[in-house]
Amino acid sequence: MSSLHLGLIFLAVILVGATIFNRKKRSQAVPLPPGPQGVPLLGNLPWFLCNSNFIWLKFTELAQFHGELIYLNLAGKSVVVLNSAEAAFDLLDQRGSNYSNRPELIMASKILAGGVHIGFVPYGILWRKLRKAVHFGLNKKSAEAYFTIQEQETKVLVRRLLKAPDEWHGHFNLLAASTILSIVYGVPYSLSLDEPHIRKIYQFMEHMLHAAVPGNYLVDIFPFLNRLPPWLARFKQEGLKAHQTYTDLFVSLLESETNKSYRNLSFAASLSKNEKDLGLTIKEKAWLAGSLFGGGSDTTASVLSVFMLAMILHPHVLKKAQAEIDQVVGKARMPCFQDQGNLPYIGAIMKEALRWIPITPLGLARSSNDPLIYKGHYIPGNSIILTNVWAMNRNPDVYHNPTEFIPERYLSSDNKREIRPKYTREGTHAFGFGRRVCPGSNIANNTLFITIATMVWGFDITLSDPSHPPSMDSLMDNGAVLRPCPFKCSLSPRPHTESTVSKLVDE
Ligand SMILES: *[C@@H]1O[C@H](CO)[C@@H](O)[C@H](O)[C@H]1NC(C)=O
Ligand SMILES: *[C@@H]1O[C@H](CO)[C@@H](O)[C@H](O)[C@H]1NC(C)=O
Ligand SMILES: *[C@@H]1O[C@H](CO)[C@@H](O)[C@H](O)[C@H]1NC(C)=O
Ligand SMILES: *[C@@H]1O[C@H](CO)[C@@H](O)[C@H](O)[C@H]1NC(C)=O
Repeated sequence: MSSLHLGLIFLAVILVGATIFNRKKRSQAVPLPPGPQGVPLLGNLPWFLCNSNFIWLKFTELAQFHGELIYLNLAGKSVVVLNSAEAAFDLLDQRGSNYSNRPELIMASKILAGGVHIGFVPYGILWRKLRKAVHFGLNKKSAEAYFTIQEQETKVLVRRLLKAPDEWHGHFNLLAASTILSIVYGVPYSLSLDEPHIRKIYQFMEHMLHAAVPGNYLVDIFPFLNRLPPWLARFKQEGLKAHQTYTDLFVSLLESETNKSYRNLSFAASLSKNEKDLGLTIKEKAWLAGSLFGGGSDTTASVLSVFMLAMILHPHVLKKAQAEIDQVVGKARMPCFQDQGNLPYIGAIMKEALRWIPITPLGLARSSNDPLIYKGHYIPGNSIILTNVWAMNRNPDVYHNPTEFIPERYLSSDNKREIRPKYTREGTHAFGFGRRVCPGSNIANNTLFITIATMVWGFDITLSDPSHPPSMDSLMDNGAVLRPCPFKCSLSPRPHTESTVSKLVDE
């Protein structure tokens, strides 16, 4: 999944910094994509500011009228919203060399992250090196090395749920954070989100998010301020100091853990072992490992909330999934990764959860390089490109009854063969498009699989108050990810759960 979902924030930063008077002339032969009517000079900026809350819904409405591409002029800065999977595929996958850049964020990306955060680095040599390292450590095959960690985490999860079922929400947050820490650094499972290193990483994430919000730092509005020497600019002094603090944190996490030989499976250890091939500096390695946490923790927990919401609103889906699990796994043991191929309905539930409420509805903003003519429309160079995953996932031509939760849409009628909608990556848009697809997608997908299979195996999940069902439309956006507003549900262990789990020995 994407590291921090900053689509909107990126956008807002850039628009404020846009050069209002410096518009380039171009020939009018090919029209821009359609969009809402703008005002002189500011273009669609007033519209944008009025509609910025849940703006993907507004884009989706506009798309019904204007079609798959929407153009906004934000005080001179071009923004193109891609509302169809085909357009995203054509541009971001097929023309990846011109559509794989990120808009520039000075305070967050250049200063705080020192230009080495894989989510933000420009498309170029460093990005390629980081990408290679991540791919090396987290590709489908390498990800299998972490199956044991992920299975172990779900055992711990079940024990926690048996003790305190109402706190499922916190247990999911902890599971997501703990799994990614174990995989990246090889630390054994975490007992609480209050552990000092976890708290520090969360502080870092909050700081990045804060720095990316427009107006919090003037340097993103007036980029020339970044040329001032630190002794003249307090923001820079503080930013550089914070960067050093985070670098120290990530380096110490990297080093202390990789030295312990029995934890040699971790991603951090694999970076060290292949140091020569990968050609990364200590700092680059440390930041690479550190940024995986931001990408993988909240996102995974949000999808698990969506899954819970789907289950209480669609009891027949849970029943059908339990029938599949009972037949394949049985009651005497917990689900494991070897079952994955035999659990097509669970796989379909995962994909449907990722589709039904996409937790990063606009992906992560890109920036285009060269201008391009696409389907008769002119897409200017250096535009902000947004992928409206929400609109893609709710397209009724692709997904019949799109607001309904229907896992069967991913399976052939005999429930055996997987159906992958066109232009998706293994059935989903959740992990993004093209070259900047989420580097942790295999890990995230595996955590989701084993956790969802375990929940279905071990628990009945029902509405606690049938007269007040939560709404699928009540969502909250913290700037990084979208998730359902907190809701109650009743979790009760199935008859076999407690006895089976109590027999398991800890590894
Ligand atoms: C895109 O990138 C390629 C290679 O980097 C370049 O040759 C080409 O001119 C660019 N522009 C378009 C519109 O494809
Ligand atoms: C870990 O190993 C590196 C190099 O092998 C060394 O520089 C560092 O001091 C070690 N750290 C700890 C905590 O032992
Ligand atoms: C991890 O270390 C142990 C003992 O040092 C060794 O036996 C094992 O082969 C190593 N595993 C990997 C994947 O390197
Ligand atoms: C994720 O898991 C599902 C279900 O097991 C599988 O169908 C899909 O191919 C996986 N996707 C990725 C990106 O690994």
